[in-house]
Amino acid sequence: MIWDEAIDRWGLDEQGPLLDPVAVFGRESELVIEIGSGDGRATGEMAQAEPGRDLIAIDVHTPGIARLLEVIEVEHLSNLRVVHGDAMSFLGRCPDGICARVRVFFPDPWPKRKQQHRRLFAGGRLDEILRVIAPGGTLHVATDIAEYATWLERLCGARPDLVGGRIPRDPARPLTKFEENGRAAGRDIHEMLYGLRKA
Ligand SMILES: C[S@@+](CC[C@H](N)C(=O)[O-])C[C@H]1O[C@@H](n2cnc3c(N)ncnc32)[C@H](O)[C@@H]1O
Repeated sequence: MIWDEAIDRWGLDEQGPLLDPVAVFGRESELVIEIGSGDGRATGEMAQAEPGRDLIAIDVHTPGIARLLEVIEVEHLSNLRVVHGDAMSFLGRCPDGICARVRVFFPDPWPKRKQQHRRLFAGGRLDEILRVIAPGGTLHVATDIAEYATWLERLCGARPDLVGGRIPRDPARPLTKFEENGRAAGRDIHEMLYGLRKA
């Protein structure tokens, strides 16, 4: 696979005009945005398992995006696009309520108190993430860090526009690399699903 050609075909620019998913995917369908697709293995499996949904996977991690580009080409996946860049910057291209689901699996935990402001959902970034979810849509998060789960639960629990909380591990969700690492280290998996209330 030649990166330049593949990213031109299947990549979306981190910055640019407002995104029109129908123009990107050539159809009306349920849009899923995954933030932090990592090595891309689970993302590729989800795209194959969900042909009726369109997925946008975002990560700064070059080898993981390269792997996804290869999966798209080899498996002829028409429902997956990648963003090689910063998710928060890309969300700036997304109109309000553009997607039905945002998925964040095993976000960087930034465990030290002084680092917590870097967490994906910290510093008002939860607002921006929720902005792109349509009413009735969902935010699905999994983590192997118990303190992170409690922290996020508190953040989401304080929002009147969200319903939901912890769920058992979703059997439809493929194992991710970081989940595997967490399990190998003996950590439990904490999974949360929040729905955005309809106005
Ligand atoms: C701990 S890894 C988890 C990867 C994968 N979801 C898994 O479970 O194996 C977190 C990923 O989020 C990505 N990431 C963190 N902040 C990001 C951001 N603002 N924009 C895009 N990717 C981000 C990192 O590059 C990393 O690949």
